[in-house]
Amino acid sequence: MGKKQLEYICEACGAKSLKWAGRCTNCGEWDSLKESSSQPSRKGWVASESSLQLLDGVKTDRNEERWCTEVKEFDRVIGGGFVKGSIGLLGGTPGVGKSTLILQLLARLIKLNKQVLYVSGEESAAQIKQRANRLVIDQKNIAILIESNLEQIVGCLQQTKPEFVVIDSIQTLYTEHLTASAGSVSQVRETASALMQYAKKAETSVMLIGHVTKDGDIAGPRTLEHMVDYVLYLEGEKKDQHRVLRSVKNRFGNIHEIGLFKMTDKGLAEVAKPGKMFAERFSSDHPGTAIFAANEGTRTLFLEVQVLVGDTQQNYPARTTVGMDRNRLQVILAVLEKHLSMDFSRNDIYVNLAGGIRVVEPAIDLCLIAALLSSHLNIPLPKDAVFCGEVALTGEFRTVSSLDGRLNESERCGFQSVFFPEVRDKSIRQNTKGIKLQPVRGVQHLLDLIR
Ligand code: TYD
Ligand code: MG
Repeated sequence: MGKKQLEYICEACGAKSLKWAGRCTNCGEWDSLKESSSQPSRKGWVASESSLQLLDGVKTDRNEERWCTEVKEFDRVIGGGFVKGSIGLLGGTPGVGKSTLILQLLARLIKLNKQVLYVSGEESAAQIKQRANRLVIDQKNIAILIESNLEQIVGCLQQTKPEFVVIDSIQTLYTEHLTASAGSVSQVRETASALMQYAKKAETSVMLIGHVTKDGDIAGPRTLEHMVDYVLYLEGEKKDQHRVLRSVKNRFGNIHEIGLFKMTDKGLAEVAKPGKMFAERFSSDHPGTAIFAANEGTRTLFLEVQVLVGDTQQNYPARTTVGMDRNRLQVILAVLEKHLSMDFSRNDIYVNLAGGIRVVEPAIDLCLIAALLSSHLNIPLPKDAVFCGEVALTGEFRTVSSLDGRLNESERCGFQSVFFPEVRDKSIRQNTKGIKLQPVRGVQHLLDLIR
């Protein structure tokens, strides 16, 4: 025990190994194994209560102290405010607005008389100052530290004992114990785990900021997700104003909530009533576009689905999706080929979800099929119509969760009609009056309606 055991981690895939080798046996990458000490994870804070006890007699003195930032779109996503002593990760692509969001949150924490520290390994003090000026926030009590050496940072934390610390970003940190460069899997893991130990011991809340690569991985370590208490992602496209904050893990709250923001010239502004915000810029009288009523947490969002079906010049026709799963498109094409006897083998198909939002719920099927057929047949869909429903392999549409909520919100936002799966429960029809309800049985029925 106690002796420092070295292990090696592959920078490419994260696989562990006790021996160094020139090539990773897991993913085959050359020269990717870097040393990493397994010590910190061994004496983690989790195992500190080592005496046997009965679950029945365990006292839950954890009346979690929460710090409500009053940025409602943020508080809801994190489950009612920052929890004292928690450690979390805020991920997002470079430039999406992570530093902006966190600086605005720090300004709110100051108002609660919390002692905060902003550690930046990325930007100079002057750059942070410029951003703060732009955000017009009270800067008086925001302490900043420009440093990327872990030992120095922990030293500073032990001296100043802040209650809330931001690390911007975890990829710039390095510990002297490892030779690997900052941003590598082993450095990210080591520095995060050291900060985590500090956070739990000192009851300090820590938020790590992490850059996400284009394919959605926090560069290097997905491993961080398992270590922290909560994981939030800020999504959106740079050229677009809208930002969605999503929680994908939360030990202290729900994970299906989202927060909505708009990037303005004075930072991120909350959007309490999204309405048609993601669909407003588009008129739906172009063939190939349809509006989807998405269900996100307790919200309904209207997103525009765009599909382009064109003749292919290639041996392998393109199947490209932005904002949704490509496999889902493949399944849907198979359903259409089977049940409508259509042939897409000579067509390139491109799908795009406007607004930089990603949808995983299968309720998007009906909308996607409508847009696809509309583009393929070159017939525009009815104006101001909304679509939602899941398709089964039989070609029938299946009902979706919170259908009533989606219908009510569609009506409230002024849509004229809703295409949704035919349901046996007729109660839905009575609740919604100002909007035309168009139940759809299956793909053939939808095709007839479009024609
Ligand atoms: P930033 O928070 O630096 O992104 P990240 O930390 O995720 O890399 O935000 C950068 C972008 O946001 C940049 O393109 C400028 C823009 N921005 C605004 O539009 N308004 C603002 O008030 C601020 C501070 C930034
Ligand atoms: Mg930043």
